[in-house]
Amino acid sequence: MEFSIKSGSPEKHRSACVVVGVFEARKLTLAAEVIDKAANNYLSDVIRRGDMEGKAGSTLLLHDVPSTLCERVLLVGLGKEKEFREKEYCSAIRSAVNALNATGAVDGALFLTGCAVKKRTLAWRIRQAAIIAEESVYRFEQFKSKKDYVRRPLRKLTLVIERRNELALAEEALAQGLAIARGVALARDLGNLPGNVCTPGYLAETARQMAHDHALDCKVLERAEMEALGMHSLLSVAKGSHQPPKLIVLHYKGANAGTGRGKGAQAKPLVLVGKGITFDSGGISLKPGLEMDEMKFDMCGAASVLGALKAVAQMKLPINLTVLVPTSENMPGGAASKPGDIVTSMSGQTIEILNTDAEGRLILCDALTYAERFDPDTVIDVATLTGACVIALGHVATGLFANDEGLARELLHAGDEAQDRAWQMPLWEDYQDLLKSNFADMANIGGRAAGSVSAACFLSRFTKKFVWAHLDIAGTAWKSGADKGATGRPVALLTHYLLKRAGKLN
Ligand code: BES
Ligand code: MN
Ligand code: ZN
Repeated sequence: MEFSIKSGSPEKHRSACVVVGVFEARKLTLAAEVIDKAANNYLSDVIRRGDMEGKAGSTLLLHDVPSTLCERVLLVGLGKEKEFREKEYCSAIRSAVNALNATGAVDGALFLTGCAVKKRTLAWRIRQAAIIAEESVYRFEQFKSKKDYVRRPLRKLTLVIERRNELALAEEALAQGLAIARGVALARDLGNLPGNVCTPGYLAETARQMAHDHALDCKVLERAEMEALGMHSLLSVAKGSHQPPKLIVLHYKGANAGTGRGKGAQAKPLVLVGKGITFDSGGISLKPGLEMDEMKFDMCGAASVLGALKAVAQMKLPINLTVLVPTSENMPGGAASKPGDIVTSMSGQTIEILNTDAEGRLILCDALTYAERFDPDTVIDVATLTGACVIALGHVATGLFANDEGLARELLHAGDEAQDRAWQMPLWEDYQDLLKSNFADMANIGGRAAGSVSAACFLSRFTKKFVWAHLDIAGTAWKSGADKGATGRPVALLTHYLLKRAGKLN
Protein backbone atom coordinates (compact mmCIF):
# COMPACT_ATOMS: atom_id res chain seq x y z
CA MET A 1 0.00 0.00 0.00
CA GLU A 2 1.07 3.56 -0.66
CA PHE A 3 1.08 6.07 2.21
CA SER A 4 1.29 9.83 2.44
CA ILE A 5 0.95 12.52 5.09
CA LYS A 6 -1.20 15.61 4.62
CA SER A 7 -2.78 18.34 6.64
CA GLY A 8 -6.00 20.10 5.70
CA SER A 9 -9.74 20.25 6.10
CA PRO A 10 -11.78 17.04 5.70
CA GLU A 11 -14.61 18.55 3.63
CA LYS A 12 -12.10 19.88 1.10
CA HIS A 13 -10.31 16.57 0.79
CA ARG A 14 -10.56 15.02 -2.68
CA SER A 15 -10.51 11.24 -2.20
CA ALA A 16 -12.62 8.12 -2.54
CA CYS A 17 -13.25 8.02 1.19
CA VAL A 18 -12.65 10.30 4.15
CA VAL A 19 -12.52 8.52 7.53
CA VAL A 20 -13.57 10.35 10.71
CA GLY A 21 -14.31 9.23 14.25
CA VAL A 22 -17.42 9.41 16.42
CA PHE A 23 -17.41 8.92 20.19
CA GLU A 24 -20.27 7.41 22.15
CA ALA A 25 -23.05 9.76 23.31
CA ARG A 26 -23.17 11.40 19.86
CA LYS A 27 -19.89 13.18 20.35
CA LEU A 28 -18.24 14.04 17.04
CA THR A 29 -14.47 14.32 16.72
CA LEU A 30 -13.12 17.61 15.41
CA ALA A 31 -12.83 16.38 11.83
CA ALA A 32 -16.35 14.91 11.92
CA GLU A 33 -17.69 18.19 13.25
CA VAL A 34 -16.12 20.15 10.39
CA ILE A 35 -17.80 17.88 7.84
CA ASP A 36 -21.07 18.07 9.76
CA LYS A 37 -21.03 21.88 9.67
CA ALA A 38 -20.19 22.00 5.97
CA ALA A 39 -22.89 19.41 5.21
CA ASN A 40 -25.63 21.15 7.16
CA ASN A 41 -25.77 18.66 10.09
CA TYR A 42 -25.87 15.66 7.78
CA LEU A 43 -23.72 13.59 10.15
CA SER A 44 -25.54 14.57 13.33
CA ASP A 45 -28.84 13.72 11.63
CA VAL A 46 -27.59 10.23 10.79
CA ILE A 47 -26.34 9.79 14.33
CA ARG A 48 -29.58 11.05 15.86
CA ARG A 49 -31.50 8.46 13.83
CA GLY A 50 -29.42 5.85 15.67
CA ASP A 51 -27.45 4.39 12.76
CA MET A 52 -24.10 5.16 14.40
CA GLU A 53 -23.85 5.12 18.17
CA GLY A 54 -20.09 5.51 18.36
CA LYS A 55 -19.56 2.03 19.80
CA ALA A 56 -15.95 0.89 19.52
CA GLY A 57 -15.42 -1.23 16.43
CA SER A 58 -18.58 -0.06 14.62
CA THR A 59 -18.41 1.65 11.23
CA LEU A 60 -20.91 3.32 8.92
CA LEU A 61 -20.31 4.17 5.28
CA LEU A 62 -22.03 7.27 3.85
CA HIS A 63 -22.19 8.20 0.18
CA ASP A 64 -22.40 11.64 -1.41
CA VAL A 65 -22.36 13.66 1.77
CA PRO A 66 -23.36 17.22 0.72
CA SER A 67 -20.69 19.93 0.37
CA THR A 68 -17.74 17.55 0.52
CA LEU A 69 -15.26 16.78 -2.25
CA CYS A 70 -14.94 13.07 -1.39
CA GLU A 71 -17.10 10.25 -2.74
CA ARG A 72 -17.68 8.65 0.66
CA VAL A 73 -17.42 9.39 4.36
CA LEU A 74 -16.66 6.48 6.69
CA LEU A 75 -17.72 7.00 10.30
CA VAL A 76 -15.75 4.95 12.81
CA GLY A 77 -17.01 4.41 16.37
CA LEU A 78 -14.37 5.21 18.98
CA GLY A 79 -16.20 4.18 22.17
CA LYS A 80 -16.41 6.40 25.25
CA GLU A 81 -14.28 9.52 24.91
CA LYS A 82 -13.03 9.19 28.50
CA GLU A 83 -11.78 5.66 27.80
CA PHE A 84 -10.06 6.42 24.49
CA ARG A 85 -6.46 5.25 24.99
CA GLU A 86 -3.70 3.41 23.07
CA LYS A 87 -5.61 0.19 22.65
CA GLU A 88 -8.80 1.92 21.53
CA TYR A 89 -6.86 4.04 19.03
CA CYS A 90 -5.25 0.94 17.53
CA SER A 91 -8.59 -0.92 17.29
CA ALA A 92 -10.18 2.09 15.62
CA ILE A 93 -7.44 2.20 12.97
CA ARG A 94 -7.89 -1.54 12.41
CA SER A 95 -11.68 -1.22 12.01
CA ALA A 96 -11.22 1.71 9.64
CA VAL A 97 -8.77 -0.10 7.36
CA ASN A 98 -10.86 -3.28 7.33
CA ALA A 99 -14.00 -1.28 6.47
CA LEU A 100 -12.15 0.70 3.78
CA ASN A 101 -10.92 -2.53 2.26
CA ALA A 102 -14.48 -3.85 2.09
CA THR A 103 -15.64 -0.84 0.02
CA GLY A 104 -14.81 -0.10 -3.59
CA ALA A 105 -12.65 2.84 -2.54
CA VAL A 106 -9.11 2.71 -3.90
CA ASP A 107 -7.81 5.45 -1.63
CA GLY A 108 -8.69 6.74 1.81
CA ALA A 109 -7.91 9.74 3.98
CA LEU A 110 -7.61 8.83 7.62
CA PHE A 111 -8.48 11.68 9.99
CA LEU A 112 -8.33 9.36 13.03
CA THR A 113 -4.59 10.11 13.24
CA GLY A 114 -5.66 13.57 14.43
CA CYS A 115 -7.32 12.18 17.59
CA ALA A 116 -5.20 12.81 20.68
CA VAL A 117 -4.17 9.73 22.67
CA LYS A 118 -3.16 10.17 26.30
CA LYS A 119 0.61 9.89 26.93
CA ARG A 120 1.29 9.26 23.25
CA THR A 121 2.90 11.55 20.70
CA LEU A 122 1.85 12.35 17.14
CA ALA A 123 4.82 10.28 15.94
CA TRP A 124 3.45 7.31 17.89
CA ARG A 125 -0.02 7.72 16.31
CA ILE A 126 1.45 7.83 12.81
CA ARG A 127 3.80 4.89 13.39
CA GLN A 128 1.05 2.72 14.81
CA ALA A 129 -1.39 3.65 12.03
CA ALA A 130 1.11 2.57 9.37
CA ILE A 131 1.95 -0.69 11.16
CA ILE A 132 -1.70 -1.60 11.77
CA ALA A 133 -2.84 -0.68 8.27
CA GLU A 134 -0.18 -2.88 6.67
CA GLU A 135 -0.90 -5.67 9.14
CA SER A 136 -4.62 -5.55 8.28
CA VAL A 137 -4.13 -5.95 4.54
CA TYR A 138 -1.50 -8.73 4.92
CA ARG A 139 -2.42 -11.97 3.13
CA PHE A 140 -0.41 -15.16 2.72
CA GLU A 141 -1.73 -16.70 -0.48
CA GLN A 142 1.30 -17.89 -2.38
CA PHE A 143 0.20 -21.51 -2.17
CA LYS A 144 -3.46 -20.88 -3.11
CA SER A 145 -4.24 -21.42 -6.78
CA LYS A 146 -7.21 -19.04 -6.42
CA LYS A 147 -6.57 -15.88 -4.45
CA ASP A 148 -9.26 -14.65 -2.05
CA TYR A 149 -10.65 -12.06 -4.42
CA VAL A 150 -10.87 -8.47 -3.20
CA ARG A 151 -12.73 -6.29 -5.71
CA ARG A 152 -10.48 -3.28 -5.75
CA PRO A 153 -8.14 -3.42 -2.78
CA LEU A 154 -7.27 -0.22 -0.99
CA ARG A 155 -4.17 1.12 -2.69
CA LYS A 156 -3.47 4.44 -1.07
CA LEU A 157 -3.88 5.72 2.45
CA THR A 158 -3.39 9.35 3.46
CA LEU A 159 -2.71 9.97 7.14
CA VAL A 160 -3.97 13.41 8.02
CA ILE A 161 -2.43 15.56 10.74
CA GLU A 162 -3.74 18.79 12.19
CA ARG A 163 -0.68 21.02 12.07
CA ARG A 164 1.32 21.72 8.93
CA ASN A 165 4.47 22.41 10.98
CA GLU A 166 4.50 18.78 12.12
CA LEU A 167 4.74 17.37 8.61
CA ALA A 168 8.47 16.53 8.80
CA LEU A 169 8.06 14.81 12.15
CA ALA A 170 5.10 12.82 10.83
CA GLU A 171 6.99 11.85 7.66
CA GLU A 172 9.80 10.38 9.74
CA ALA A 173 7.36 8.46 11.93
CA LEU A 174 5.64 7.14 8.80
CA ALA A 175 8.96 5.90 7.41
CA GLN A 176 9.62 4.15 10.73
CA GLY A 177 6.16 2.60 10.79
CA LEU A 178 6.53 1.29 7.25
CA ALA A 179 9.99 -0.15 7.98
CA ILE A 180 8.58 -1.94 11.02
CA ALA A 181 5.57 -3.15 9.01
CA ARG A 182 7.87 -4.63 6.36
CA GLY A 183 9.91 -6.34 9.06
CA VAL A 184 6.70 -7.76 10.55
CA ALA A 185 5.56 -8.95 7.10
CA LEU A 186 8.90 -10.71 6.52
CA ALA A 187 8.61 -12.48 9.87
CA ARG A 188 5.02 -13.52 9.08
CA ASP A 189 5.93 -14.78 5.61
CA LEU A 190 8.83 -16.87 6.90
CA GLY A 191 6.72 -18.22 9.75
CA ASN A 192 3.80 -19.14 7.50
CA LEU A 193 5.95 -21.00 4.96
CA PRO A 194 5.61 -24.77 5.26
CA GLY A 195 8.46 -26.81 6.71
CA ASN A 196 9.23 -28.45 3.39
CA VAL A 197 9.97 -25.04 1.89
CA CYS A 198 11.37 -23.10 4.83
CA THR A 199 14.32 -25.34 5.73
CA PRO A 200 17.60 -24.26 7.37
CA GLY A 201 18.98 -23.88 3.84
CA TYR A 202 16.05 -21.62 2.90
CA LEU A 203 16.65 -19.37 5.92
CA ALA A 204 20.33 -19.14 4.96
CA GLU A 205 19.38 -18.13 1.40
CA THR A 206 16.97 -15.53 2.79
CA ALA A 207 19.78 -14.12 4.93
CA ARG A 208 22.12 -13.94 1.93
CA GLN A 209 19.45 -12.15 -0.09
CA MET A 210 18.91 -9.65 2.76
CA ALA A 211 22.66 -9.07 2.94
CA HIS A 212 22.67 -8.34 -0.78
CA ASP A 213 19.65 -6.00 -0.59
CA HIS A 214 20.82 -4.00 2.42
CA ALA A 215 24.64 -4.20 2.14
CA LEU A 216 25.10 -6.38 5.24
CA ASP A 217 27.92 -8.80 6.03
CA CYS A 218 26.68 -12.37 5.94
CA LYS A 219 28.36 -15.61 6.87
CA VAL A 220 26.74 -19.02 7.11
CA LEU A 221 28.55 -21.62 9.21
CA GLU A 222 28.13 -25.16 7.88
CA ARG A 223 28.28 -28.40 9.86
CA ALA A 224 32.06 -28.82 9.49
CA GLU A 225 32.81 -25.33 10.80
CA MET A 226 30.47 -25.82 13.72
CA GLU A 227 32.16 -29.13 14.51
CA ALA A 228 35.54 -27.39 14.52
CA LEU A 229 34.14 -24.82 16.97
CA GLY A 230 32.84 -27.57 19.27
CA MET A 231 29.14 -26.78 18.85
CA HIS A 232 28.13 -30.35 19.67
CA SER A 233 24.96 -29.30 21.46
CA LEU A 234 23.62 -27.49 18.38
CA LEU A 235 24.73 -30.28 16.06
CA SER A 236 23.12 -32.98 18.21
CA VAL A 237 19.68 -31.59 17.34
CA ALA A 238 20.23 -32.03 13.60
CA LYS A 239 21.37 -35.65 13.75
CA GLY A 240 17.98 -37.15 12.89
CA SER A 241 17.34 -34.82 9.94
CA HIS A 242 18.27 -34.98 6.27
CA GLN A 243 18.49 -31.18 6.22
CA PRO A 244 21.94 -29.84 7.11
CA PRO A 245 21.94 -27.38 10.04
CA LYS A 246 23.34 -23.85 9.69
CA LEU A 247 24.45 -21.00 11.88
CA ILE A 248 23.59 -17.76 10.12
CA VAL A 249 25.56 -14.61 11.03
CA LEU A 250 24.52 -11.17 9.77
CA HIS A 251 26.15 -7.84 10.62
CA TYR A 252 24.58 -4.42 10.14
CA LYS A 253 27.03 -1.59 10.80
CA GLY A 254 25.31 1.75 11.09
CA ALA A 255 26.98 3.28 14.15
CA ASN A 256 29.42 5.48 12.16
CA ALA A 257 27.04 8.41 12.04
CA GLY A 258 25.83 7.70 15.53
CA THR A 259 24.21 9.93 18.08
CA GLY A 260 22.93 7.08 20.28
CA ARG A 261 24.51 5.57 23.36
CA GLY A 262 27.30 3.79 21.46
CA LYS A 263 29.05 5.74 18.73
CA GLY A 264 31.43 4.96 15.89
CA ALA A 265 31.94 1.92 13.70
CA GLN A 266 33.69 0.22 16.60
CA ALA A 267 30.70 0.57 18.91
CA LYS A 268 29.90 -2.75 20.56
CA PRO A 269 27.10 -4.44 18.68
CA LEU A 270 23.64 -5.26 19.93
CA VAL A 271 23.15 -8.95 19.23
CA LEU A 272 19.85 -10.70 18.47
CA VAL A 273 19.68 -14.50 18.48
CA GLY A 274 16.64 -16.29 17.04
CA LYS A 275 15.64 -19.95 17.44
CA GLY A 276 15.39 -21.41 13.95
CA ILE A 277 13.90 -24.90 14.29
CA THR A 278 12.18 -25.17 10.90
CA PHE A 279 10.18 -28.16 12.11
CA ASP A 280 10.01 -29.58 15.64
CA SER A 281 8.69 -33.13 15.65
CA GLY A 282 10.14 -33.59 19.12
CA GLY A 283 12.73 -36.04 17.79
CA ILE A 284 12.88 -39.43 19.53
CA SER A 285 10.78 -37.85 22.32
CA LEU A 286 8.16 -37.55 19.60
CA LYS A 287 5.33 -35.05 20.05
CA PRO A 288 1.69 -36.19 19.90
CA GLY A 289 0.10 -35.80 16.47
CA LEU A 290 -2.52 -33.20 17.41
CA GLU A 291 -1.58 -29.79 15.95
CA MET A 292 1.93 -30.98 15.17
CA ASP A 293 1.72 -29.01 11.91
CA GLU A 294 2.07 -25.87 14.03
CA MET A 295 5.65 -26.85 14.81
CA LYS A 296 6.57 -25.36 11.45
CA PHE A 297 6.29 -22.09 13.42
CA ASP A 298 9.20 -23.15 15.64
CA MET A 299 11.47 -20.84 13.63
CA CYS A 300 9.46 -17.71 14.47
CA GLY A 301 12.25 -16.48 16.76
CA ALA A 302 14.60 -16.59 13.78
CA ALA A 303 11.98 -14.91 11.60
CA SER A 304 11.49 -12.10 14.12
CA VAL A 305 15.18 -11.24 14.46
CA LEU A 306 15.51 -11.20 10.67
CA GLY A 307 12.42 -8.97 10.53
CA ALA A 308 13.87 -6.59 13.12
CA LEU A 309 17.14 -6.45 11.19
CA LYS A 310 15.29 -5.64 7.98
CA ALA A 311 13.46 -2.80 9.72
CA VAL A 312 16.70 -1.42 11.18
CA ALA A 313 18.48 -1.60 7.82
CA GLN A 314 15.62 0.23 6.08
CA MET A 315 15.64 2.96 8.72
CA LYS A 316 19.45 3.12 8.55
CA LEU A 317 19.61 3.39 12.34
CA PRO A 318 22.94 4.56 13.78
CA ILE A 319 23.66 1.35 15.68
CA ASN A 320 25.66 -1.83 15.12
CA LEU A 321 23.44 -4.88 15.06
CA THR A 322 24.44 -8.52 14.74
CA VAL A 323 21.89 -11.26 14.13
CA LEU A 324 22.59 -14.94 14.84
CA VAL A 325 20.27 -17.71 13.70
CA PRO A 326 21.05 -21.27 14.71
CA THR A 327 18.80 -23.36 12.48
CA SER A 328 17.95 -27.03 12.18
CA GLU A 329 15.12 -29.52 11.92
CA ASN A 330 14.33 -31.69 14.95
CA MET A 331 13.50 -35.16 13.62
CA PRO A 332 13.55 -38.76 14.81
CA GLY A 333 15.72 -41.27 12.92
CA GLY A 334 18.36 -43.91 13.32
CA ALA A 335 21.08 -41.33 13.83
CA ALA A 336 19.01 -39.01 16.04
CA SER A 337 19.96 -38.04 19.61
CA LYS A 338 18.42 -40.35 22.22
CA PRO A 339 17.22 -39.59 25.75
CA GLY A 340 20.21 -40.08 28.01
CA ASP A 341 22.79 -38.97 25.43
CA ILE A 342 25.41 -36.55 26.74
CA VAL A 343 26.91 -33.78 24.58
CA THR A 344 29.60 -31.17 25.18
CA SER A 345 28.56 -27.63 24.29
CA MET A 346 30.90 -25.04 22.77
CA SER A 347 31.27 -23.53 26.25
CA GLY A 348 32.75 -26.82 27.51
CA GLN A 349 29.77 -27.52 29.77
CA THR A 350 28.27 -30.99 29.32
CA ILE A 351 24.54 -31.58 28.86
CA GLU A 352 22.49 -34.71 29.44
CA ILE A 353 19.69 -34.77 26.88
CA LEU A 354 16.83 -36.21 28.92
CA ASN A 355 14.22 -35.13 26.39
CA THR A 356 15.01 -34.57 22.72
CA ASP A 357 11.97 -32.27 22.49
CA ALA A 358 13.79 -29.66 24.61
CA GLU A 359 15.91 -28.88 21.53
CA GLY A 360 15.57 -25.10 21.34
CA ARG A 361 17.89 -24.50 24.29
CA LEU A 362 20.37 -26.95 22.77
CA ILE A 363 20.82 -24.90 19.60
CA LEU A 364 20.57 -21.55 21.40
CA CYS A 365 23.26 -22.28 23.99
CA ASP A 366 25.97 -22.71 21.35
CA ALA A 367 24.81 -19.63 19.45
CA LEU A 368 24.94 -17.65 22.71
CA THR A 369 28.49 -18.83 23.41
CA TYR A 370 29.38 -17.87 19.84
CA ALA A 371 28.01 -14.35 20.51
CA GLU A 372 30.85 -13.75 23.01
CA ARG A 373 33.31 -13.22 20.16
CA PHE A 374 31.55 -10.04 19.07
CA ASP A 375 32.09 -8.40 22.47
CA PRO A 376 28.39 -7.52 22.57
CA ASP A 377 26.85 -4.51 24.29
CA THR A 378 23.67 -6.54 24.86
CA VAL A 379 22.36 -9.93 23.72
CA ILE A 380 18.65 -10.72 23.30
CA ASP A 381 17.46 -14.15 22.24
CA VAL A 382 13.98 -14.80 20.89
CA ALA A 383 12.52 -18.30 20.90
CA THR A 384 9.32 -20.34 20.75
CA LEU A 385 10.90 -22.16 23.65
CA THR A 386 8.31 -23.72 25.96
CA GLY A 387 4.70 -24.84 26.01
CA ALA A 388 4.88 -23.91 29.70
CA CYS A 389 5.15 -20.22 28.75
CA VAL A 390 1.82 -20.52 26.93
CA ILE A 391 0.29 -21.99 30.08
CA ALA A 392 1.73 -19.15 32.19
CA LEU A 393 0.94 -16.14 29.99
CA GLY A 394 -1.42 -17.35 27.27
CA HIS A 395 -1.34 -15.60 23.91
CA VAL A 396 -1.18 -12.05 25.26
CA ALA A 397 2.27 -11.44 26.71
CA THR A 398 5.68 -12.68 25.65
CA GLY A 399 7.72 -14.13 28.54
CA LEU A 400 10.72 -11.95 29.43
CA PHE A 401 13.74 -13.15 31.41
CA ALA A 402 16.89 -11.08 31.96
CA ASN A 403 20.13 -11.08 33.90
CA ASP A 404 20.01 -7.26 34.02
CA GLU A 405 17.13 -5.23 35.45
CA GLY A 406 17.89 -2.19 33.30
CA LEU A 407 17.56 -4.22 30.11
CA ALA A 408 14.38 -5.88 31.39
CA ARG A 409 12.83 -2.48 32.02
CA GLU A 410 13.83 -1.18 28.58
CA LEU A 411 12.27 -4.19 26.87
CA LEU A 412 9.05 -4.01 28.91
CA HIS A 413 8.80 -0.36 28.00
CA ALA A 414 9.44 -1.04 24.31
CA GLY A 415 6.71 -3.69 24.33
CA ASP A 416 4.31 -1.23 25.89
CA GLU A 417 5.13 1.47 23.35
CA ALA A 418 4.80 -1.00 20.46
CA GLN A 419 1.56 -2.59 21.76
CA ASP A 420 3.54 -5.86 21.61
CA ARG A 421 3.83 -6.52 25.28
CA ALA A 422 6.06 -8.72 27.40
CA TRP A 423 5.82 -9.71 31.08
CA GLN A 424 8.84 -10.33 33.26
CA MET A 425 9.35 -13.77 34.80
CA PRO A 426 11.81 -14.65 37.60
CA LEU A 427 15.30 -15.94 36.89
CA TRP A 428 16.29 -16.55 40.51
CA GLU A 429 19.12 -18.85 41.57
CA ASP A 430 16.54 -20.91 43.47
CA TYR A 431 15.33 -22.37 40.17
CA GLN A 432 18.74 -23.52 38.98
CA ASP A 433 18.52 -26.75 41.01
CA LEU A 434 15.81 -27.98 38.63
CA LEU A 435 18.52 -28.69 36.04
CA LYS A 436 20.58 -31.10 38.15
CA SER A 437 21.89 -34.16 36.33
CA ASN A 438 23.48 -37.24 37.88
CA PHE A 439 25.73 -37.72 34.87
CA ALA A 440 26.57 -34.36 33.28
CA ASP A 441 26.97 -30.67 34.24
CA MET A 442 23.27 -30.16 33.66
CA ALA A 443 20.14 -31.79 32.24
CA ASN A 444 18.32 -30.20 29.31
CA ILE A 445 14.96 -30.31 31.12
CA GLY A 446 13.77 -29.30 34.57
CA GLY A 447 10.50 -31.17 34.95
CA ARG A 448 6.93 -29.95 34.62
CA ALA A 449 6.96 -27.23 37.28
CA ALA A 450 8.09 -23.75 36.13
CA GLY A 451 8.97 -25.10 32.69
CA SER A 452 9.60 -21.72 31.06
CA VAL A 453 11.77 -20.64 34.00
CA SER A 454 13.98 -23.75 33.96
CA ALA A 455 14.45 -23.29 30.20
CA ALA A 456 15.59 -19.70 30.80
CA CYS A 457 17.84 -20.92 33.65
CA PHE A 458 19.45 -23.32 31.21
CA LEU A 459 20.23 -20.46 28.80
CA SER A 460 21.49 -18.25 31.65
CA ARG A 461 24.40 -20.67 32.14
CA PHE A 462 25.70 -19.62 28.72
CA THR A 463 25.23 -15.84 29.09
CA LYS A 464 27.35 -14.99 32.11
CA LYS A 465 29.73 -12.79 30.12
CA PHE A 466 27.23 -10.23 28.87
CA VAL A 467 24.03 -8.33 29.54
CA TRP A 468 21.30 -10.64 28.27
CA ALA A 469 17.55 -11.08 27.94
CA HIS A 470 15.46 -13.97 26.69
CA LEU A 471 12.02 -13.60 25.09
CA ASP A 472 9.86 -16.74 25.11
CA ILE A 473 7.37 -16.19 22.28
CA ALA A 474 5.77 -19.67 22.35
CA GLY A 475 2.34 -18.11 23.02
CA THR A 476 2.61 -14.97 20.90
CA ALA A 477 4.43 -15.88 17.66
CA TRP A 478 1.43 -17.43 15.94
CA LYS A 479 -2.32 -17.94 16.20
CA SER A 480 -4.07 -21.31 16.09
CA GLY A 481 -7.57 -22.21 14.91
CA ALA A 482 -9.50 -20.36 12.22
CA ASP A 483 -6.97 -17.49 12.17
CA LYS A 484 -3.98 -19.82 12.07
CA GLY A 485 -0.89 -17.90 11.05
CA ALA A 486 2.26 -16.14 12.18
CA THR A 487 1.76 -12.82 13.99
CA GLY A 488 5.16 -11.27 13.37
CA ARG A 489 5.61 -10.72 17.11
CA PRO A 490 7.92 -9.52 18.63
CA VAL A 491 9.35 -7.57 15.67
CA ALA A 492 7.60 -4.41 16.83
CA LEU A 493 8.90 -4.78 20.40
CA LEU A 494 12.47 -5.36 19.19
CA THR A 495 12.46 -2.47 16.72
CA HIS A 496 11.04 -0.07 19.28
CA TYR A 497 13.83 -1.08 21.66
CA LEU A 498 16.41 -0.54 18.92
CA LEU A 499 14.84 2.79 17.85
CA LYS A 500 15.11 3.94 21.45
CA ARG A 501 18.73 2.78 21.69
CA ALA A 502 19.45 4.74 18.50
CA GLY A 503 17.86 7.87 19.99
CA LYS A 504 15.27 7.97 17.20
CA LEU A 505 12.02 7.33 19.03
CA ASN A 506 9.84 10.45 19.06
N1 BES B 1 8.93 -25.71 20.31
C1 BES B 1 8.57 -26.29 21.54
C2 BES B 1 7.81 -25.34 22.46
C3 BES B 1 6.38 -25.08 22.08
C4 BES B 1 5.41 -26.04 22.32
C5 BES B 1 6.00 -23.87 21.60
C6 BES B 1 4.09 -25.78 22.02
C7 BES B 1 4.68 -23.59 21.33
C8 BES B 1 3.72 -24.54 21.53
C9 BES B 1 9.82 -26.74 22.31
O1 BES B 1 10.87 -27.18 21.54
C10 BES B 1 9.41 -27.87 23.18
O2 BES B 1 9.05 -28.89 22.64
N2 BES B 1 9.47 -27.70 24.49
C11 BES B 1 9.06 -28.69 25.40
C12 BES B 1 10.06 -28.71 26.52
C13 BES B 1 9.87 -29.86 27.48
C14 BES B 1 10.22 -31.15 26.79
C15 BES B 1 10.74 -29.63 28.67
C16 BES B 1 7.68 -28.33 25.90
O3 BES B 1 7.40 -27.16 26.11
O4 BES B 1 6.85 -29.24 26.03
MN1 MN C 1 10.67 -29.24 21.07
ZN1 ZN D 1 10.97 -26.42 19.63
